[in-house]
Amino acid sequence: SWKMENVLDEEIKVINETVGPDEHVICALSGGVDSTVAATLVHKAIGDRLHCIFVDNGLLRYKEMERVMETFERDLHLPVTCVDATDQFLSELKGVDDPEKKRKIIGKEFICIFDDFAHELEQKLGRKPSYLVQGTLYPDVIESCPPPGSGSTHSHTIKSHHNVGGLPKDMKLKLIEPLKLLFKDEVRQLGKILNVPEGFLKRHPFPGPGLAVRVIGDVTLGNYLDTLRLVDEIFIQSIKDAGLYDVIWQAFAVFLPVRTVGVQGDQRTHGHAVALRAVTSEDGMTADWYPFEGKFLADVSQKICNSVRGVNRVSYDITSKPPSTIEWE
Ligand code: XMP
Repeated sequence: SWKMENVLDEEIKVINETVGPDEHVICALSGGVDSTVAATLVHKAIGDRLHCIFVDNGLLRYKEMERVMETFERDLHLPVTCVDATDQFLSELKGVDDPEKKRKIIGKEFICIFDDFAHELEQKLGRKPSYLVQGTLYPDVIESCPPPGSGSTHSHTIKSHHNVGGLPKDMKLKLIEPLKLLFKDEVRQLGKILNVPEGFLKRHPFPGPGLAVRVIGDVTLGNYLDTLRLVDEIFIQSIKDAGLYDVIWQAFAVFLPVRTVGVQGDQRTHGHAVALRAVTSEDGMTADWYPFEGKFLADVSQKICNSVRGVNRVSYDITSKPPSTIEWE
């Protein structure tokens, strides 16, 4: 649209006036729409003086790293360093059950890795990077400073949300937030003009702590994470095949660390249970569970039990928000 073309030109101009010709900029990509569009925009303005990092924390979805790296590199030509920090994150999470503790650990590890990245870059360039790009949107800006007396009880007061891009304190980076006056649908329009693939722009939201809040309890036990990835992939693929992905706000599987009894052939099994969740929502603050047809759920359940080793029970979450939250942790 003409409006977004203007926004794009204006933003590029502002970035070029802000960032000096010898200055460098860093950005943490999460694989989500906002950080991707923000980075693509900055890249268009200053080229390879932008340096992006994508962290594989071992808590990503099935083939997520390969999939997003393909978009970053092949479709968008972004300069991205991909860091495999799986061992680092999982060793810190060993034995941790509490959801808030998990979030804190993940947030802290992320900052360490980002810090290392910035310092290595400094060595390589012979100067400190000056700016950090963040994909902050207008609703985030309003949410972080609620009007006085509004008594706002948004989700930040319930859960500590750690988006990637938490800022290491000693680094003294100035912020570039090119999306901070835009709403989500405007970011998607902007992304489209910047040639971010359509399918990528329609991705469901995904929490910063990733699958750590979708494996209940200690995420490092057994092969819980791998099992969850397979179940989640089957569910999401089935939703896409049924043409329902775009009407759903968020859909995912949850791994339940309980053992349940099942039967396969003439053998008794003692396996694990998983839960599926799909909700519709306008903004994530409230949400309704999605009423799939029985046949759809039956097919998904059968597919999961037939193809994912160790899972012998599938349940579907029929609670809305409130009283539940969207995530299980
Ligand atoms: P809840 O579970 O609070 O989630 O109803 C609302 C929305 O926020 C996402 N979410 C998170 N996002 N870090 C994030 O970046 C987090 O710690 C986190 N916890 C929940 C959730 O996926 C949903 O879209």
